[in-house]
Amino acid sequence: MTNMKIVQISDIHCGSSMFDENLMKNTITQVNQIDPDVLILTGDLTMDGYHEEYRKAVSYIRKFKVKKKLIVPGNHDSRNVGWKLFEKMIGNPFKIIRMNKDIIICGADSTEPDLDDGQMGRYHTNKFRKIFAEDFRFKILAMHHHVISVPNSGREMNILRDAGDVLQMLVRSRVNLVLSGHKHMPHLWHFEGIKILTSTTTTTRRIRGMYPPSYNIITVGQHLKIERKEVLGKKLMLYNGAF
Ligand SMILES: [Fe+2]
Ligand SMILES: [Fe+2]
Repeated sequence: MTNMKIVQISDIHCGSSMFDENLMKNTITQVNQIDPDVLILTGDLTMDGYHEEYRKAVSYIRKFKVKKKLIVPGNHDSRNVGWKLFEKMIGNPFKIIRMNKDIIICGADSTEPDLDDGQMGRYHTNKFRKIFAEDFRFKILAMHHHVISVPNSGREMNILRDAGDVLQMLVRSRVNLVLSGHKHMPHLWHFEGIKILTSTTTTTRRIRGMYPPSYNIITVGQHLKIERKEVLGKKLMLYNGAF
């Protein structure tokens, strides 16, 4: 049985006037100390998808000494033809990590060029249905957009356009964990056997209300443990129990 530790960071927004280098440096130091098996970055690496912003993001991402990285684009990254830069400078926006035929992590590109809306689309929903039909003990999907609304996110905008179909696929496929970013609102839903976890922005001051920049630590062993670590503050236990 594979034990695995994952760190999820999100919405680092290199190029934003509210990007905070101190938060980034602290995050890199802390994550390297945690030494996870996988680092997941759930999109919005940049502010407007520009080359200079991608270069800055890449230079920071390289400082994380984690062997396996799964990075998906956010709506900001697909602006101004940034989606092409993502493929060139980061890699395939649909990436799959399999850990000993035991745990599978799928990354999905939920973005549309120059739109804030997100969409999985029928092609990729069906593709993930087939992939998740394989016999894994623990299944994870990471994407930028929310598949379900979260509190404190104001007027509901741009959750996945096809959220209902994606949610049905996830439930029927017995996916265990869904990771998203986008609204900069940290939250954990328990929905039909799935843990739906969102992260706030890890390295900017573009926070909602009083939720400070943070990242998530996920431990998959006999049980599942989900913790939120405020970059400059405390660690909170969000869940510790059965899958
Ligand atoms: Fe964002
Ligand atoms: Fe976003």
